Amino acid sequence: MKKILICNQKMYLTKDEAMNLSYGYDEIDFSNVELIVCPNYLNFEYFEDYKLGAQNCFYEDKGSYTGEVSPYDLHLRGIKYAILGHSERRMYDTNEIINLKVKACVRNSIIPIICVGESKIEKELLKTSSVLKKQITTALSGVDLTDDYPVLIAYEPVYKIGSSSPLSKEEIEDTFKYIKKILDDMKIPNYKLLYGGSVKGENVKHILSDEIDGYLVGASCINASELNTIIKCIK
Ligand code: PGA
Repeated sequence: MKKILICNQKMYLTKDEAMNLSYGYDEIDFSNVELIVCPNYLNFEYFEDYKLGAQNCFYEDKGSYTGEVSPYDLHLRGIKYAILGHSERRMYDTNEIINLKVKACVRNSIIPIICVGESKIEKELLKTSSVLKKQITTALSGVDLTDDYPVLIAYEPVYKIGSSSPLSKEEIEDTFKYIKKILDDMKIPNYKLLYGGSVKGENVKHILSDEIDGYLVGASCINASELNTIIKCIK
């Protein structure tokens, strides 16, 4: 099974910068990974040759929702994935809203990439398990999934995003055991577990594991040579 690599370009790039980055991507051999590129909405056009994901979407398909982006329209435009519940959006989206968004994605044949993870304070208060359980069970509550419809769960400890190093492999594997149990107890038929948070060319070799189905990469994906180093390590 190829590792999944999600490139979350966040709001890093202007039009010209995105266009330049797309030339850099064109030089990379992505054949050893399952690549999903998530540009901001305005930059989709520069990455049309890749499998595309949105960085967010709304939970209604159409209507008077100023400033929102429709999952139905994303689907019509060929967008196959959507990141939901990223920690940089959780101040706007509650667990319940994320659940509505997951349902909207599934209704529109978009595969949700659900981000979960505890903050530093929650970790210090030993609340990691309860936070993850609440985030995952609420996000997937009442969602009708089948064997052939995967859901991607990206474990991203908030304090590791944009930091100097990722979580250790052992800590990721331990947390994945717990996440798997939650998903298995919920009878989620098809899921993949990804890690995100400061994955870089220099450290990805330390967090390679059969237990990790893929990686969600932020800052490193807007630098083509850094991304290429990551790709070369993931086999
Ligand atoms: P980072 O971001 O790779 O820059 O830490 C990851 C993320 O926010 O998803």
